[in-house]
Formats: sequence, C-alpha cells, structure tokens
Amino acid sequence: MARDAHSVTGTAAPPGEERGLGGQRLLAFARTLQGAVDFSALTAMVAEEVRGALGYDNSWLSVFEDERLMQARLLTVQGPSEVDVWKHATVIPVEGDWMMEQIAKGDRVVVIEDALTDPRVNHAIVDQLKNRTIINVPLRFIDRPFGTLGLGTFGDEGPRPPTEAEVEYLIAMAAHVSVAAARIRLTEERALAAADRLDIERRLAQRQRLESLGLLAGGVAHDFNNLLMVMRSTAAVFEAERGLSETGRASVAMLLDAVERARDLTRQLLALGRKQDLRLAPLDLNARVRKLVALLRRVVPASIAVDVIEGPRLPLVSADEVQIDQILLNLCLNARDAMPHGGRITLETEQVVINGEYVRAHPWAKPGRYVLLSVTDTGTGIAPELIDRVFEPFFTTKPEGQGSGLGLAIVYGVVRQHDGMVHCYSEPGVGTAFKVYLPILEREADEVGSKIAGAVPGGTERVLVADDHPGARRVMVDLLTRAGYTVVAVEDGAQAVEAARCEPFELVILDAVMPRLGGGEARARIRELRPGARFLFASGYGADALSEQLTAEDAREVLAKPTDPDSFLRAVRRALDRR
Ligand SMILES: Nc1ncnc2c1ncn2[C@@H]1O[C@H](COP(=O)(O)OP(=O)(O)OP(=O)(O)O)[C@@H](O)[C@H]1O
Ligand SMILES: [Mg+2]
Repeated sequence: MARDAHSVTGTAAPPGEERGLGGQRLLAFARTLQGAVDFSALTAMVAEEVRGALGYDNSWLSVFEDERLMQARLLTVQGPSEVDVWKHATVIPVEGDWMMEQIAKGDRVVVIEDALTDPRVNHAIVDQLKNRTIINVPLRFIDRPFGTLGLGTFGDEGPRPPTEAEVEYLIAMAAHVSVAAARIRLTEERALAAADRLDIERRLAQRQRLESLGLLAGGVAHDFNNLLMVMRSTAAVFEAERGLSETGRASVAMLLDAVERARDLTRQLLALGRKQDLRLAPLDLNARVRKLVALLRRVVPASIAVDVIEGPRLPLVSADEVQIDQILLNLCLNARDAMPHGGRITLETEQVVINGEYVRAHPWAKPGRYVLLSVTDTGTGIAPELIDRVFEPFFTTKPEGQGSGLGLAIVYGVVRQHDGMVHCYSEPGVGTAFKVYLPILEREADEVGSKIAGAVPGGTERVLVADDHPGARRVMVDLLTRAGYTVVAVEDGAQAVEAARCEPFELVILDAVMPRLGGGEARARIRELRPGARFLFASGYGADALSEQLTAEDAREVLAKPTDPDSFLRAVRRALDRR
C-alpha cells in the first residue's frame, strides 16, 4: 500500500548504509550527472543508478506540461517495458489520477506496492502496462513541482516494494536529478534564445539587402527611362519621315514596339525603387480577389483548381488597386508555374491582429491590425537554402527567357510601400504559401467606398492641403475631391503661403512638420493674409510634439496621421463649421 516517505523515521544507523546506499555512492552519482547534456543522457544515468543501486530495471522521467500542472508528459523511459510505456502513458492527465495528484500537490514520494490490488491507481494505464510496484519521486524546479522520477516493476517481475533506506536514497537522488534537469532546461532555453536572435539578424540583413537592391534597380531604371524617351522620339521622327521604304517602316515599327516593352520593364523596375506614386483608396480585398479569379481561370490550365476563401466582414485597406492586382497576379502565376502537373491554388483573406507575442516569434512583423491575404499552392515548394532569396530582384530558377525574377521583388516593393509585410512559408514537395499583410483602414467593413459618400458629410468649400509626403497628400486630395470640395495641394509651408496669397481658402490643412516652413509658422503668415481662414493640422507625431508651435486652443485641431477617411472628413467638416 502507499506509504508517505516523509513519515518514515530514520534510525540512528540507516539500514541502507550496509548495502552501499550511502553518501559515497550518492556523491559519485551526483558527479556523473554533471556530464548530462540533455534529458536522454540524464535518464540513461538515472536508469543505470536505479538498476545498480536499487535493482529496478525500469525507470522514467516525466515533466508537467504547464504551470497549472494539468498533465504530465513522458520525457524518456528506460528498461524492458520501454515500448509499452511510450504507447500507453506518454501523456498522463493529472486530475483524477490519485498518484499524479499527490506528486503535483506536494513533495512526497508515492509508492504503490502492488498496482494489481491497489484501487487508487489509474486503471486505464495500469491495465495496459501491467504495472506491479510503482514508485514516483517528485522533481522540483527551485520552488515548484517540475516532474517525476519513476521506477518500478511490470507483469511477471511481480511486486517489489522499496525498503525505507531505498526510499531515502531515492529522495536524495531526486534532489540531484532536479538540479541537473533544471540546468539542462536552462541551457536549452538559452540556446533557443540565441537561435532566435540569429534569425532576427538574418532577416534584418535580408531586408537591407532587398531594399538596397531595389533602390539600385530603381535608380538604373530611372536613367534608362530617359534614354528610352530619346529612342522613342527619335524613332517617331523616322516614322513620320516621308518616302520611307516598306522595310524601313516595318523596322521602325519593330523598334517602337521594343521600346514599348522596355518601358514596361523599366516601369516594373521603378516600382522596386519605390519611385512610383501610389493611388491609395479604400479597397475591399475580397472584391479584388473575386475579379482576379475570373481572370485567373483563363490563364491557369484545367488541371489546377482555384479556391477562394473570403474572410467574412473583411475590413477595408488603403491601397492602390492596380498594384494589388499585380501582387495577386504575380503570386498566382508563380503558384501556377510551381504546379506543372496540376494542383490547387487557394486564395484566402482574413482579418488578423498582430500583437507583441507574435512579434517576438516573428521578427519581421509589426504589431497592428491587418488584412491577411494568403496564396497557397500544392506545388514543388522552395528549397530552404533558397527561400531567403526569392524576393531578390532577378532571382529566378526558371529557364532563360521564362522568368525575369522580378515578380516577387515587385510584390515585396509594393507591399512595403503599403506599409505591409510579406512572408513566405514553403515545404519542398508539399507546397508554398505567401502571406501578405496589409494594414487595415480603421473603419467598419462594407461594400467598397459606399459609406464614405453617404454617411460622412462633405462640402463645396475651397480647401488648401500642404503636406510634403506625396502619398498622404494624394489620399487627402482624393478624399476631399470625392466629398465635393475644391482642392489645391502643395508640398510645403512656403508654397502654402504663396497659394493663399493668390486665392482665398475656407480651410487650410497643414502638415505640422514640413521642409522650408513648418505648419505653425505657415499658419501665422496665412492668417495675416486671410484672417477668415480656418486651419487643421495633420501630424504623424501626435499633439505633444507640436505643443511648441500650437496654443492649447489649437490642440483640438490636430489630426493624428494616419487616420481613416471617415474621421478625416468629419474633422474637416468640424473645422469648417467652427464659429
Ligand atoms: N509558389 C512558388 N512555388 C515554388 N517556387 C516559387 C514560388 N514562387 C516563387 N518561387 C521561386 O522564386 C523564384 C522567384 O520568383 P519571381 O516571381 O520573383 O520570379 P520568376 O517567377 O522566376 O520570374 P517573373 O515572375 O519575373 O516572371 C522563382 O523562380 C521560383 O524559383
Ligand atoms: Mg514570378
């Protein structure tokens, strides 16, 4: 029957001493344990000691899975019953198992003298394993239960309860095993942390490489584009020439055609260097995906199935639809090319929140709310050593003439320009998933654009917008124009003052921080010229950073960037209606 080892009272001379279970033996064991580098080495040492000192052939180590000690997981087991134990007792629920509850609760050695007759055992396990004697010694990790060291007999071995001296010796052993186990676990955790750090560094390096390659390509394309313009206009002169022969005419047409294609290519290269302006507008990604799939069915062979899983109530994103189509098309064509013998492309959209926890595990991630677009295929996959390179411009594994290696570089550039993230998972032989995260516009999802015109107030006043950021400027102009306002946009404070000198505006929207003349100073000058004008400040830094430029009364008029279209238009209306 079960005994509580702590109630065992030692005699003056422990009986185990004569059988060699004394301090010397324990010390030698403790010294051996120092050489254990992992849990399997540790159990091997424990098993040997349990066999040598106590005569038990089977021993095991298990650990509690979590802080709440809901279940114990077998780490290693040694002995003739090894296979059966793995089969039937890999995970043992603690609740409802008297023995495990005892171990999780306190630090008592629990001894079942004969499981065959003891009613308290977990019959589900014991019936399978044919346990006879079971001894479980708790392991502690500083101040909490950590797991157990178990040993015992099975089946024909018959029961063999431990003597008091043996239980004492086991308790002493367990203390040393606990220390060794804690050391191993800490070392493992440290190694994991170091691996994580390496991963972060690798990804940062990759990003910098991509960015500089993109800039380089963009820079070259820019110069190249100018040369193409010269070629095109020169060819056009020839084309207009009278008396040009038929072959001459055909040659010029070919030349112009080639120039046209070169221009397409440079346009793509320019996208890499972020030299393109985005036409941002609220966009329903589901609608885009639907449109694309209709087109896709024409360019993928019948052996490839195309599935769409649309996220419900998907929030809008602020995006350039032409560019988003590029992303979708590039990813889908790559998927098609990876499945020469057919397969399945799955396009999925969903809303996701990326928080601190996730960011720690995925160093490339920025916290926030996103719409996630996944394009998954069942194709060849990408070899692990290549996966870091797929976004590089000109990286391709396709035969000469079939791939330019620009598809994913463009995807990467476009996504970054949208303040999003893109990540690739792949398993060779199984398939590949590209995940594109686009930051959501913080407003309720609905059909595209419908809400903006309806619920949000517009107007017919004249509005001047000054912002040095072309994307931000474009969004504001777009929204204001669509809401009915007449808009003039300029790039900095000085130009704003000039514009206001030429004509009156009811409202002036100033970026707080601009080159040449900041928002505060610009307002002062415009106010002198146009005392009736109202002002609204846009700031990416929040009201605090502006406190030097603004009075307390102005603080209400600071619009935090980035903002969503609804709140932007409401703030505009509020500013105009203010008395
Ligand atoms: N879904 C995918 N499955 C397997 N490999 C892929 C997949 N997508 C991309 N790759 C690999 O990444 C490489 C780069 O892709 P990328 O789209 O940038 O260029 P490309 O497809 O080779 O050429 P381009 O798109 O310019 O015609 C591909 O050549 C291929 O090796
Ligand atoms: Mg491609």
